[in-house]
Amino acid sequence: MVGLGYKAGMERHSGPEPLPLSTRLRRLRYHPALRSLVQETRLSPRDWVLPLFARDGRGVREPIRSLPGHNQLSADEVAREVVEAKELGLGGVLLFGIPPAKDAAGSDAYSDSGIVQRAVRAAKAAVPDMLVITDVCCCEYTDHGHCGIVNQKTGRLDVDNDATLVLLAKQAVSHAAAGADVIAPSGMMDGMVGAIRRALDGAGFEHVPILSYAVKFASAFYGPFREAAESAPQFGDRRGYQMDPAAAAEQACREAELDLAEGADLLMVKPALPYLDIVRLVRERFPGVPLAAYNVSGEYSMIKAAAEKGWLDERACALESLLAVRRAGASITITYWAKQAAAWIQ
Ligand code: PBG
Repeated sequence: MVGLGYKAGMERHSGPEPLPLSTRLRRLRYHPALRSLVQETRLSPRDWVLPLFARDGRGVREPIRSLPGHNQLSADEVAREVVEAKELGLGGVLLFGIPPAKDAAGSDAYSDSGIVQRAVRAAKAAVPDMLVITDVCCCEYTDHGHCGIVNQKTGRLDVDNDATLVLLAKQAVSHAAAGADVIAPSGMMDGMVGAIRRALDGAGFEHVPILSYAVKFASAFYGPFREAAESAPQFGDRRGYQMDPAAAAEQACREAELDLAEGADLLMVKPALPYLDIVRLVRERFPGVPLAAYNVSGEYSMIKAAAEKGWLDERACALESLLAVRRAGASITITYWAKQAAAWIQ
């Protein structure tokens, strides 16, 4: 029996005659089975990618205060997460690294025995067919926390775009050599996709695709991530390289277009919820290109925090968020809820 529990006829005894409405959209919502039948957006764990933070050690799971439910993981623990991700049917994992030591050039980023390289090997050994995506950027590895080499070449402290490309190319090749299936550059350097594509091809990795964080905004919603990855800039901010949230939406399309011309295989818009207009725009402008949206740390933590206070229903808000991102046009969603949400909808 469907309905709200009132006795039939209860509300019929008085009131006006029924209006002559020929269209009543509520008819599509009366029967739960019809409601379900007319849905066009459905959630599937296969579309979700789980971010993981790799660190040094063995058997280490260091809780991340700002991302409840997430930990900095040693490589063996990354492998355990990947086994779980596989069991839950997730589409992939995205690896970030927190190196034991940082320096001005972020040298752990491209070391064969670097933190991500070891985590990739452990992940691929545990579940060879799980898709392992690696974030390629300098900010987790540099002591100043910026996404590249910092110098005064332009007359003031700034990230040197072209010098940084050399490092990103080396990092990408070493990730591919460790077994990464997809390379995801997130530094918003001009020309990064082209530099990485050429380096991968030159090293025999022409089959390894690039998922470009093509449209990445300078967003305050990355706050919890920077605590997780210990990557907050030590001076200044990222507005000199990440997109201005107030820039013309068309600038997002220029970013996407350039990355595609340089050889990007998949595109990303980031963050997700505050930029669903951009997700929709990029989806419509580049219909043949797989599109990912990153439901970032702040989008996760704010719902977690409100749920802890009893102000929001976490499960309902998380699933609604994931639905909205998908409906806006993302085929892939990178989300800290991946495991939990997969368990919820199973
Ligand atoms: C940079 C990078 C960042 C995120 C993903 N890659 C941080 C930044 O640009 O400061 C943020 C992801 C999130 O907030 O969940 N390597």
